[in-house]
Amino acid sequence: MTGRLDRWERLLDRQLAVAPYALLAVSAVLALLDGRGTPWLTAGLVALTAAWMWLVPRRAAYVAGLVVLIGVLCGRSVWFASFFSLVGYLHTWQYLKGAWRFAGVSATAAISVAAYQGGLPDPTPSGVLTYLFFTAAVVAAVGLFSFVGEVTSERSAERKRMVTRLEETMRENAGLQAQLLVQAREAGVLDERQRMAAEIHDTLAQGLTGIITQLQAAKRAERAEDRGRHLDLATGLARESLAEARRSVHAVGPGQLAAAPLPEALQEVVARWGELNGVRADFTVTGTVRPMHPEVEETLLRTAQEALANTAKHAGASRVGLTLSYMEDVVTLDVRDDGAGFVPERAGEAGGFGLTAMRKRVSRLAGTLEIESEPGEGTAISASVPAVSRD
Ligand SMILES: Nc1ncnc2c1ncn2[C@@H]1O[C@H](COP(=O)(O)OP(=O)(O)OP(=O)(O)O)[C@@H](O)[C@H]1O
Ligand SMILES: [Mg+2]
Repeated sequence: MTGRLDRWERLLDRQLAVAPYALLAVSAVLALLDGRGTPWLTAGLVALTAAWMWLVPRRAAYVAGLVVLIGVLCGRSVWFASFFSLVGYLHTWQYLKGAWRFAGVSATAAISVAAYQGGLPDPTPSGVLTYLFFTAAVVAAVGLFSFVGEVTSERSAERKRMVTRLEETMRENAGLQAQLLVQAREAGVLDERQRMAAEIHDTLAQGLTGIITQLQAAKRAERAEDRGRHLDLATGLARESLAEARRSVHAVGPGQLAAAPLPEALQEVVARWGELNGVRADFTVTGTVRPMHPEVEETLLRTAQEALANTAKHAGASRVGLTLSYMEDVVTLDVRDDGAGFVPERAGEAGGFGLTAMRKRVSRLAGTLEIESEPGEGTAISASVPAVSRD
């Protein structure tokens, strides 16, 4: 749309630049064909006018000179009044400002009208009045057309500015959208990376830790019977970890939850943990047990697993207790041990991932995680998530 308008505008500009010479040429040819006056003088004046238009910078002095030249040419032939005098109006309007425009247009009009009348009017009142009337009519007409033209071009320029601004805004918006898209994609990638990291930690890393513990115990065992038991446990752990890793690759929930409701799955996890680590572990359920949204159950199961893994790894506890409480709005899991304890604020310093992942999982469900611990005082972890029922 704007492209076509621009092309038209450029074409018009080019024609406006050529038009004065064309009008001068037409007037000159007709004047020479007329055969009045000295041809070479006319030709010389025409050449001078052309040179004036070509060479002199377009300022007030140029317009003054042009009007004088128009006057001289019109004195030689009326054909110059018919065609070339238009250039006087055009350039006066284009290159002068304010009242000077009217002065220039009036001078040009006075010259043309005089040329049409075959010279200046007789000094009678009616002669002078007629002359002034025609001159004023021409000035009014030229002024009106020029004014309308100016308003139109002003308006089209304004419209063009608006279109340009609109295009700019649209371009900016497109850029912004692309940026948002990239950010959303990056956020998605980051989310997925965190999820994968948590999965690897909860399945493979925990499994491998348990396997290593069992293998070390097997190595230390003096009786063949004990060695066999530890090796069996290690094999079992390896199988389970492999199965869990496969499930997490396919983004399926934990196997324990597929087989049993949350309280039973936790009971099983706690019992096995006690057996593997030789530590007394108790599990209690309170409140009205009801099926929760899979993500709620998975979060609580993973929290219990990591808390137990940490107890085995860091606490050296003699007792562990887990409580699962179903309340009206929230489901809470508490894990307490009587082990070594630690300073929660400094837990991240060793570069562990478990507690961070635990916190992320819980806060993703708009839940809360509290860790209470002190060196020598044992540890209590409490995860609370909204009680979103399974639909
Ligand atoms: N029950 C606990 N008893 C004593 N210290 C604990 C206990 N739980 C966590 N900690 C301390 O908090 C730190 C951070 O735990 P976190 O689970 O984040 O990492 P990690 O267990 O060391 O490594 P990862 O879980 O990544 O295998 C542990 O290194 C440990 O010092
Ligand atoms: Mg850990």
